[in-house]
This record gives sequence, C-alpha cells and structure tokens, in this order.
Amino acid sequence: MMTKEKPGENSAAANDNLSLNSFIHKNGGKEVVVVQGLGFVGAVMSLVVAAENRYAVIGVDLPERKEVIDELNNGDFPIQCTDQKVYEYFDKVKEQGNFLATSDCHSYALADVIIVDINLDVAKQAGADKTLNSYNVDLSGFRQAIKSIAERCKEDVLLIVETTVPPGTCQKVVRPIFEVEYQKRGLPFTFKIGHSYERVMPGPGYVDSITNFYRVYSGIDKASANDTEKFLKTIISTDQFPLTRLGGTNASEMSKVLENSFRAMNIAFIQEWTEYAEAADVNLFEVIDAIRIRPTHKNIMRPGLGVGGYCLTKDPLLASWSSQNLFEGNALYQSEKAVKINDQMPLHTFEVVSGVFQKKDLSSISFLILGISYLPNVGDTRYSPVELLYDKLQEKGADIELHDPFTDQWREKNLFLSSWEEINGKSYDAIIIGTPHDYYLEGHLSNLLTNSEPLVVFDPHGSLSERLMIENNQHKYKIIGRGDV
Ligand SMILES: NC(=O)c1ccc[n+]([C@@H]2O[C@H](COP(=O)([O-])OP(=O)(O)OC[C@H]3O[C@@H](n4cnc5c(N)ncnc54)[C@H](O)[C@@H]3O)[C@@H](O)[C@H]2O)c1
Repeated sequence: MMTKEKPGENSAAANDNLSLNSFIHKNGGKEVVVVQGLGFVGAVMSLVVAAENRYAVIGVDLPERKEVIDELNNGDFPIQCTDQKVYEYFDKVKEQGNFLATSDCHSYALADVIIVDINLDVAKQAGADKTLNSYNVDLSGFRQAIKSIAERCKEDVLLIVETTVPPGTCQKVVRPIFEVEYQKRGLPFTFKIGHSYERVMPGPGYVDSITNFYRVYSGIDKASANDTEKFLKTIISTDQFPLTRLGGTNASEMSKVLENSFRAMNIAFIQEWTEYAEAADVNLFEVIDAIRIRPTHKNIMRPGLGVGGYCLTKDPLLASWSSQNLFEGNALYQSEKAVKINDQMPLHTFEVVSGVFQKKDLSSISFLILGISYLPNVGDTRYSPVELLYDKLQEKGADIELHDPFTDQWREKNLFLSSWEEINGKSYDAIIIGTPHDYYLEGHLSNLLTNSEPLVVFDPHGSLSERLMIENNQHKYKIIGRGDV
C-alpha cells in the first residue's frame, strides 16, 4: 500500500506521492508496469512498454539520477541517439500521458509487472601493464534493489529480471529475498519471477532491437514462465520474432553471458592474427573476407581498436564468477582470457602509433582523435577502447584534441570535446579514427583530409575506403591489420 503523507507536508516524497497518485488516477483501469532503472536499457524499455496504451508505466531510478528523471518528465529523452523511432515513441507516450519517471519506491506497491533494468557491475583491477589482474562481483546493490521491491510489491506481482546477472541469481538470490520479505509481511509465496535478457543495441535500431527481435525467457516455475511469455507478447512482434523458452532461469541467465562470451572470444581470437598479418605484410581484411564466404565461418571477426561498452567487457566475468561462487565450479579460463586480451587491444594501436613516430616521447606530436564512443553511430562512451589509447598517448605527453559527433563531452574522463568547426582547418601531425562513425566516413573526413597538410592517418578499424586514400594520397595511412600498407 502507498504511504499516506500528512496534509500540508511539503517534502519531495510527498510531492512524488501526489504525482504518483494523480498519475494512477489519470490512467485508471490500465495495468501498471514499473521499470526499475532508467539507463540505456530501462529508458527505452519504458517507452516501448508505454507505447502500448493498455499500460501505465512508471520508471524508477535512484534519487541521485534526478536530472534524468526530470528530463524524462519534462519531455526530453535523456540519451542522444540516431533512432528516430525513439523520439516518435516518446511523442506518442507524452500524448497518451501514460509514463511517469520518479525515484519514489512506493511505485512498486502499485505495479502488476516490475521489470528490473538496473546495472550490475564487475569491479576490475588492472595491473601495471593495464591487463586485468583481478575482478569482483558485488551483489549488494542488486540485492538492495530487489529487496526494495519485495518489501512493498503486490502479492501476486510478476517480476521480470532483464539485468544481466551471474547465472543462478534468480533462483539463489532473487527468490530467497522475496521469500524472506513475503514471510515478514505474512504473505503466501504468490509472486512470480521471470528472466528475459535484453539484446538492446543503442544506435539506429534502438527501439527495433527490443520490439522486432528474438527473445529468450524463462521463469523460476511454470506459472512465472507463462506470465513472462504473456507479457513479452504484448510488446514484441512475436509473430515475426518468436520467443524461445528455456528450461529455467539458470539456463536463460547462462544464455545471455554465453552469447556475449562467445563474441568476446571471437574478437580476442583475431588479435594475435592481426599482429601476425602485419608482420607478414598481409592484408588481414582481404583474408577474412575470403574466409567469410564459407557459411560456417561467416562471423569471423575483423581487426579493430578494441572492445568496449558495458556488456562484452564484463559478461564473461559474471559467468566465471557464477561458476566459482554460485556453483562451486572452476573459473571459465578461456572466457576470462578473452576479456584480458580485449582489454589490452588498444595497446597494439598505441604501439603502432609510437612506432610510426619512432619516439618514446610524443610531446611534440599533435593528434586529433575522431570518435570516442565504443560503437559507431552511438554516443555511449562507457568503457570505450579509445580511453586506453588516449591515456597512453597522454602519458607520453602528446597534444590531443578530441571530437565526436554524438557527444560534446567525455563524462568518464571529465573532458569537453571540440566541435567540428573548431577542428576543421587546424593542422595536426596525425588523425586517429577512434570510432568509425558514418558522420566521418560519409563526407566529413574526406573534406578534412582534402584540406589538410600532409599527416598520418591511423585507422584501427579498416574503415577507410581505397578511394578516399587514393584521392587524398598526400597523407600517409596506417591501418591496423593491414601489413600491406
Ligand atoms: N547497454 C546495453 O546496450 C545493454 C544491452 C543488453 C543488456 N544490458 C544489460 O542491461 C542492464 C542495464 O544496463 P544499462 O546499460 O541500462 O545500465 P545503466 O548503467 O545505463 O542504467 C542502469 C540504471 O539503473 C539505475 N539503478 C541502479 N540501482 C537502482 C535501484 N536500486 N533502483 C532504481 N534504479 C537503480 C542506475 O541509477 C542507472 O540509471 C545491465 O545488466 C546490462 O548488462 C545492457
């Protein structure tokens, strides 16, 4: 039940409660869905659910995320992105008036369905050589978040965990918390707990990566799995993208971390071949394209700067932690090794850059880094591989200017970026393609190079076209994975 505030009380909580009450009143008769966590996943998930006008959707985040909560309530989507559908959905939801963002935990008492989209981080400790030394998974924040729901939710709530968790979490962590809290509240165990992981991709297909994509799900029991399926069918085009039910939550939790570990290993695998190909004067891109013709080898990875983003950099570690700590098994050594190799990958580009200038000290060299986000056409800078490259160049005293068309600041480093107008026309000794955004490849870079004095262009992604290099042959090009240029 919602807490009743004393009349005249003017606290933030009282205001929140008032707006919650009037929101529910305005949306009378609709099923209430609460999304816990309004980050990259939760913000867009809230919109996707609220686009279905049968639901009244409340997004809950922590009080310290007031800025994001206010932005959402004031009609601004807090994540800059290129998917027009995000803004169309947001407009629709604003018009319907069936979405509210808040930090008020009383929201959980109103919900028929609660979707957990909070973060669950891995704390990594790097050694002096910047490789992964050790790591730890601290479940206390996640436990607290689940407890805050179980303490006040409706008796027969459906909880769907979308957060990427160490396999075993729904059965060994979430369920016991619910049982303890229900016992304290004198309730029978009538809750339902489902698990269905996100494959959302912030970028041009942000919304479609939820609504028009395949999903895996499960439940702690059959009733939970059935209700999870019923809910997912209301937001996903399951006619075209059928759901896959797995035998239990351990299985679907494992499915998520296995699919990301597989990808992380694929990327790690190609790193030693990248260095080998460079030494052997081989164009590894050409070799990989030849191999990709075989249907069994279609997803062999190309060389790159490194792996970034929130998921591939931690999910194999969540799996290995689970094996050791929740199932008394062994570490997943290959998956852990993949993370170690991937974390170190940007050091290779750094070595190539240093090699070209043949200097231990780069203080007389000016660099322009184009793109700092971890993924093309996205403004997400979390765990970007550009960071390690930037740090190493800085350590050597280089003069570095940064640009990214999707963000004007690098939050993690507390840095402001230059605008295109500021960098265009300036001279640099080198340009490094940090992230191959279409913005650069579809004209801007070509213009910049045409008007620049001779410099060195480093392309860790093999993203430059032969034509661009021929048309701008006053410059020197160094491409990671291409021993032939
Ligand atoms: N970002 C992606 O592309 C992506 C893709 C697939 C899966 N995932 C997974 O989805 C989950 C969420 O990822 P994200 O990128 O949205 O993370 P995020 O860090 O952007 O957002 C998480 C949000 O949860 C909030 N939060 C934390 N504890 C809370 C609590 N007790 N109550 C309410 N809010 C709370 C945080 O303040 C934050 O705003 C993670 O497990 C991630 O691995 C992410």
